[in-house]
Amino acid sequence: MVPLLTLNDGSRIPAIGLGTYPMKEDAPTAVRSALELGYRLVDTAASYGNEEGVGRGIAESGVPREEIVVTTKLRGQDQGYESTLRAFETSRRKLGVEYVDLYLIHWPLPRVDKYVDSWRAMITLREEGVVRSIGVSNFSAAHLDRIIAETDVAPAVNQIELHPYFTQRDLRAADAERTVLTQSWRPLARGAELLTEPVIEQIAGRHDVEVSQVVLRWHVQLGVLPIPKSSSPVRQRSNLDVFGFELSESEMAQITALHRGRQGGDPDVHEEF
Ligand SMILES: NC(=O)c1ccc[n+]([C@@H]2O[C@H](COP(=O)([O-])OP(=O)(O)OC[C@H]3O[C@@H](n4cnc5c(N)ncnc54)[C@H](OP(=O)(O)O)[C@@H]3O)[C@@H](O)[C@H]2O)c1
Repeated sequence: MVPLLTLNDGSRIPAIGLGTYPMKEDAPTAVRSALELGYRLVDTAASYGNEEGVGRGIAESGVPREEIVVTTKLRGQDQGYESTLRAFETSRRKLGVEYVDLYLIHWPLPRVDKYVDSWRAMITLREEGVVRSIGVSNFSAAHLDRIIAETDVAPAVNQIELHPYFTQRDLRAADAERTVLTQSWRPLARGAELLTEPVIEQIAGRHDVEVSQVVLRWHVQLGVLPIPKSSSPVRQRSNLDVFGFELSESEMAQITALHRGRQGGDPDVHEEF
């Protein structure tokens, strides 16, 4: 069983989830297979163009809706108060759900400067009961402080790039200080190079697990919530199976020492609409 984490609004969510970018035609089958294997958190976004497929996978899985944490995100072009409310309706319809469990602002887009208005709309959606928990993605400590100062509502989640090559020590601490749960996107650094790192291979050998499982366990022990994407049932199963072993403090430190820098966009300047 996957342990649950408690958000600052009292909701409980699974300690690991399924990423769905860049799933397209494979989304219904991949999401359904993940749910059948025991995943109970699914992460999509309006900008991934797969909300319909993800929704179909959820419906076809037969897993009771209330057991699943459905996450989607507001894309850049929809930022602003009224446009966020409209964009949410579109996402909800495409997903085919009555409510969304977790709705995130995808990127802050500071140059556009609408994220405070978007955040106010997220608060409205939560008050209306169509969204259970609200959060952000790719927010820096300064972005967090601004929405908290202007609305008095701290996000439940900040979903950020986080993996052994980009360990986000400061932002993890900033999130925690503000009661915000950190979720890790690109938790496996997309799989390739990271999964051949000799130091992680050695640790994996010692625990008789896969390299990818060591990486996901590292996230879990950091207290952050990884959302690895896999369309393969074999890898989905393996990625979920990270609660039966424990890394030592020195193994955790060896993995963290792989830090070198971000792979994706810098939230202060990255623009994605
Ligand atoms: N908020 C944001 O701005 C943002 C940005 C990027 C991503 N995300 C979210 O984060 C999720 C995860 O990030 P990501 O997809 O970029 O990267 P990732 O989860 O680190 O890596 C996914 C890649 O690794 C492969 N893989 C998965 N499990 C594996 C395993 N056990 N062994 C070997 N290879 C494995 C997958 O291939 P197979 O499918 O073939 O297994 C896929 O190519 C996305 O799907 C999306 O939901 C959010």
